Amino acid sequence: MKNTSKMPSVNGTIHIAPSILSADLCQLGQEVARVTQAGADWLHIDIMDGHFVPNLSFGPALVRSLRKFTDLPLDVHLMVTNPLHFIEPFAKAGADLLTVHVESNDDTLQALKAIHALGVKTGVSIKPDTAPSVLTPLMEYIDLVLVMSVYPGFGGQAFLDSAPAQIKAVRQLINTSGKQIWLEVDGGINAQTAPVAIAAGADALVAGNAIFSSADPALALKQIKQETPKI
Ligand code: DX5
Ligand code: ZN
Repeated sequence: MKNTSKMPSVNGTIHIAPSILSADLCQLGQEVARVTQAGADWLHIDIMDGHFVPNLSFGPALVRSLRKFTDLPLDVHLMVTNPLHFIEPFAKAGADLLTVHVESNDDTLQALKAIHALGVKTGVSIKPDTAPSVLTPLMEYIDLVLVMSVYPGFGGQAFLDSAPAQIKAVRQLINTSGKQIWLEVDGGINAQTAPVAIAAGADALVAGNAIFSSADPALALKQIKQETPKI
C-alpha cells in the first residue's frame, strides 16, 4: 500500500517544523501536543546513523508511534550513509517527507525516485560546504530542499554566517526551476535568525533547541514564526 503524504504544497506562508531531537523524550507525547497547540506546521525527525554524522538518534519505530499520535506531517531528515536501505521502512512507518543528503554514499536520483514511488514527498539536503549547483540536475524530482545552516549531527549549534548566501543561492535555483519547491532551513534557528533565513528565501524553518529548551516553547515557536513581538 502506498503512503499518502500529508505534506502540503508551497503556499506562500512560513512553516515551522519543531525538531524533536531537543525534546524531553520521556515526555514526547506532551511535547508534541504542546507544539501542535502552539501552531507547529510539521514535525522534524532527525535520523542519525552514527556514521554519516557522529551521533545516533531515532529509527522507524518512533515514526510509527508518532504517526499514530499526531496528524502533523512528519518531516524525516535522513542523516545516514545509505539512505536507500531506510526509505521503505520510514515510508511504511508513516513519513510524509523523506529528505536525503546529496553527500550520502547512495545515488541521490535513485533515492528520490524510490521515495516518490512510495507516495512520499522528496527532500534533498546540502551540508554547509556543499555547492548548491549539485541540485540543478535533480530539481525536477525534488519537493523540498533542506539547507543546513549548521554542520549536521547535533542540536543547539549556532546559525552559520555562511548560511544566508547558501539559502539565497538555493532560492535562485528554485525560482529558476519554475517548480513549487519548499526551501527549508535547519540549524540554529531562533527568533533572531529566523528573519535572516526568511529574508534570504526560506519558507520553512526547523527549530529544536530554541523551542524545546525554552521555558515557554509555545511563545518561542510563535516568535520564530514572527507572530509575536520579540522580547
Ligand atoms: C542537526 C539536525 C537539526 C537539529 C536542529 O543535525 O538536523 O534538525 O535538530 O536543532 P537546533 O534548532 O537546536 O539547531
Ligand atoms: Zn534536521
